[in-house]
Amino acid sequence: MLQVFSLTSTLLSIYSALPLIGASPNVRSVPAAPPPAWVCGWNTCRFLPGNPPAVSPSSVYSSWDNVRYLEVFGASYTYTGPNIINPQPPFQTSCNGPNYIDLMTYQWNQSLIETDNFAISGSPVDWTLICGDGPLQTACGQNNDFVRQIDWYVGNFSTNKPAGWTPSNSLYLIAFGINDINYGYKNWSAASPLIFKQYHASFEQLYQLGARNFVFVNVPPIDRSPTAVDDGTTIAADWKADVIDFNGRLELMIEAIGNKHTDATFFLYDMNGVFTSVLDNTAYSDITAGYIDTTHNCTVYADSYLGAPIPSMTYKSPDCPYAVPQYFWFSGYHPTYPLHNLTANELAFGLQHLV
Ligand SMILES: *[C@@H]1O[C@H](CO)[C@@H](O)[C@H](O)[C@H]1NC(C)=O
Ligand SMILES: *[C@@H]1O[C@H](CO)[C@@H](O)[C@H](O)[C@H]1NC(C)=O
Ligand SMILES: *[C@@H]1O[C@H](CO)[C@@H](O)[C@H](O)[C@H]1NC(C)=O
Ligand SMILES: *[C@@H]1O[C@H](CO)[C@@H](O)[C@H](O)[C@H]1NC(C)=O
Ligand SMILES: *[C@@H]1O[C@H](CO)[C@@H](O)[C@H](O)[C@H]1NC(C)=O
Repeated sequence: MLQVFSLTSTLLSIYSALPLIGASPNVRSVPAAPPPAWVCGWNTCRFLPGNPPAVSPSSVYSSWDNVRYLEVFGASYTYTGPNIINPQPPFQTSCNGPNYIDLMTYQWNQSLIETDNFAISGSPVDWTLICGDGPLQTACGQNNDFVRQIDWYVGNFSTNKPAGWTPSNSLYLIAFGINDINYGYKNWSAASPLIFKQYHASFEQLYQLGARNFVFVNVPPIDRSPTAVDDGTTIAADWKADVIDFNGRLELMIEAIGNKHTDATFFLYDMNGVFTSVLDNTAYSDITAGYIDTTHNCTVYADSYLGAPIPSMTYKSPDCPYAVPQYFWFSGYHPTYPLHNLTANELAFGLQHLV
């Protein structure tokens, strides 16, 4: 109960920072006329920061506090370390602390959740479609992508499916796109239709195995990351256009699979929106109000992500003007853990409070 209240009061402070919503101190109000981008069908819903999703609770998804199994696929933002099941500290994440998957599992959970995390750093949807086009030639021949995460999951699932798993008490969270763009941006118009053909096919595999509740996460504005901004070429402009393209195609895909699979529930979590809100105004939420620098990353911290660990989550290096959690960016395009905390908070809140 206590957790529900603290969740609500945190969100209330977010609402009061949002001009459109205008919540009074103890009543959470929903805008009378949803903005045009706020599109919910009966089993699909885009959920924007500050807006609970409007999926019908009568479909297979009931609420966050009924989730027992969280099955996760993604890349470095989502990776929680080599232990697939319920990772424990010390967290091997890209944010110098627990990431949004960890925090959904044990901080903002409203039930005892088993998280099975198949995410691997560097994963695009399908490396074979973008090999050799980006600055990171390492996409070629790497074995980390959604296609191979699914193979891994499928291979283990039939034998190791947890005893209590059901279609309605499990939630599948899928987050790709950053590496597709990073590796493939030089050939994006050729690659993106093929990427989405595969994204759709890989989703279908999960559906055929019985998965019915899905959260898709869209791509944040990586064009505003230090890597893109400091690059001094057209990379930021290219990435920006590709993020828009990727996120647009993702919405179309969700609409299509929502129409096809009327016995399943689909959420789109707008990670792009939460990044944009915080980068524009760190006071957007209490959780991110401690950010001082939203444009740079500090070398010592970035190096620590790539190699030597740093002493603590809140460490302040003498060689950096600020402590880790005062930077939005931990490395070139990975955010620090407060942003993950806000993301997890919004996901949990939205998944609980269906309207
Ligand atoms: C949330 O997860 C933690 C860690 O597994 C657990 O101790 C706690 O009981 C869970 N909360 C609820 C409400 O089940
Ligand atoms: C661009 O991508 C398409 C589709 O994957 C591929 O057929 C083509 O060879 C790529 N072009 C270059 C220059 O890599
Ligand atoms: C199942 O998971 C294990 C451990 O992560 C992995 O080594 C193995 O390859 C997986 N099995 C299949 C058939 O994918
Ligand atoms: C930011 O992080 C990247 C690694 O992701 C690193 O290469 C770069 O040097 C860092 N930038 C600064 C200014 O330290
Ligand atoms: C996440 O935010 C909550 C609420 O402000 C706070 O209690 C918790 O310590 C935060 N967790 C992390 C890892 O920062």
